[in-house]
Amino acid sequence: MIGLCEFRLNALPTSGKLLCTFFLICMGIGYVFSQLNVFFTYNRADGEAGLSLQDIIVTFYGQPGVLLIESKLKGAMREHLDNEYDRNSLINWAKRGARKEKFSEIKGIIIKNCLRCHTAGGESSFAPFDKFSTVSDIFTRINYGVPVSRLITLSHIHMISIGVIFALSGIIFLFTPINEKLKTALLIFPFGSLMLDIFSWWLTKLTPVFAITVLIGGVCTVVSFTIQFVISLLTMWTSSRKSLLT
Ligand code: HEC
Repeated sequence: MIGLCEFRLNALPTSGKLLCTFFLICMGIGYVFSQLNVFFTYNRADGEAGLSLQDIIVTFYGQPGVLLIESKLKGAMREHLDNEYDRNSLINWAKRGARKEKFSEIKGIIIKNCLRCHTAGGESSFAPFDKFSTVSDIFTRINYGVPVSRLITLSHIHMISIGVIFALSGIIFLFTPINEKLKTALLIFPFGSLMLDIFSWWLTKLTPVFAITVLIGGVCTVVSFTIQFVISLLTMWTSSRKSLLT
């Protein structure tokens, strides 16, 4: 019998290796998709294609002095309108105070282009456009960045789901033969990066400078998961019982 601390992944039966391998691969693919999602949701936040610090600032801190609807229609929501005329109509209606008398002029544009997501049960049900009152309320808002209520939702979903993924991948990584101190650091690294990322969202809401730590935290979570992924798979599928990186 070997003790738990001497147990290595390559001693697992093939069934166990396959379980761990498929888990890691699915999480890896899931991670790639989540990063693509971040890219497509936020890369146009500042109106320019490509992810930049400015996108992070516009998303979390906002653009004080600019209407939320104007920011969104020039950035993330741009693709949902097929012409400049409709975009200007919506922005001008908002800038003139989103008045009920003129609502009929832009109602059709919203029904045609926005309602499929901006309704109860839709992708953006937190900002429904079903009623004049909610439309006018949202259209007259200044862009102060992600609302606190949504930040709470985003934070708890990310912290719990990604935390659980890191815990499971960490349990697999525990049985790799690398130096104990390095292993401890590599086990803590993903959790530290995740916390840096999520706490920085909140800090960026207060001051734009923290956009840089949002970026660093995000990059570090990807790097730390990749390191665990590679070392775990190498250990599992190489027959040598010798240490890889001692
Ligand atoms: C494919 C789904 C989809 C369509 C279509 C869509 N949106 Fe959005 N909208 C979203 C999502 C998801 C968010 C949240 C992410 C974000 O803020 O970028 C959002 C956020 C917004 C916000 C910010 C709301 C807030 O409280 O933060 C505004 C304003 C907005 N959309 C306006 C529009 C307008 C105007 C249209 C139509 C021209 C439109 N959207 C079409 C999905 C959509």
